[in-house]
Amino acid sequence: MTMNTALITGASRGIGRQVALTLAAEGWRVLSGVREPASAPPGTEAEALDVADASSIEAPAARFRARQQRLDVLVNNAGVYEGPAHRIWDTNTLGPLRLTRALEPLLAAHARVVLVTSSLGRLSAQPASFVERLSDSRLSLDDLERLAREAPGGYGESKAALIVMARLFAEQLKPRGILVNAISPGWVRTDMGGPGAPRSVEQGAASILWGVRLEPGGPSGGAFEDGIAMP
Ligand SMILES: NC(=O)c1ccc[n+]([C@@H]2O[C@H](COP(=O)([O-])OP(=O)(O)OC[C@H]3O[C@@H](n4cnc5c(N)ncnc54)[C@H](OP(=O)(O)O)[C@@H]3O)[C@@H](O)[C@H]2O)c1
Repeated sequence: MTMNTALITGASRGIGRQVALTLAAEGWRVLSGVREPASAPPGTEAEALDVADASSIEAPAARFRARQQRLDVLVNNAGVYEGPAHRIWDTNTLGPLRLTRALEPLLAAHARVVLVTSSLGRLSAQPASFVERLSDSRLSLDDLERLAREAPGGYGESKAALIVMARLFAEQLKPRGILVNAISPGWVRTDMGGPGAPRSVEQGAASILWGVRLEPGGPSGGAFEDGIAMP
């Protein structure tokens, strides 16, 4: 029997952990991209991965290539809210860009890729000059990588860049039937969201899992929360 395989980054805690546990309970083979192998949730396989570190991304990518690992799902969930701007962009934006690029040859036909964004990343919430840069119709993934290296802003901007990234990867991977979307979990009670957030971890994970479970031919290149296009 071939099991569906998913790689979830930031699976040690919070929303990523809940997504990993849910898929594992459904019989998926779940690879947990975690900084500390002991923090991988039960029923999943730890893959040591610091998404903010380019060399740490290359190691699992090389391992996967060597064993011809097929991936049906990639959830770029690892993220940080605070800290120096370069740390935020390396983790939230460059990490998903590098990891998706490195693993793209291993994605199965009709695979689903999720970039976990935030309502704070919606384009309408960003400074006009930044929106102008992101909205350039000629912008490529290489341009986006250069922009991310500048770390132009904080958390919201880093998540806005993911929305554009989803569109660019979606275009590139369309011939293979691969669906790529930026998905917000809503404001969720995790270490990041805090105890006052209105949504449970399960609700946040459900929003992400919508993008994992899309039918072939489903939406791609968009930004969604709870399956609804973000404003
Ligand atoms: N919570 C919310 O209200 C909310 C709202 C909108 C969007 N989001 C987004 O949802 C995602 C998950 O958030 P959360 O609330 O579950 O956050 P969380 O509870 O703070 O967990 C963050 C996860 O990311 C991992 N991580 C951080 N930096 C990493 C790195 N360099 N390499 C690998 N893993 C790293 C952490 O691993 P360690 O255990 O090793 O630190 C942890 O597993 C994030 O992308 C976040 O921006 C959250």
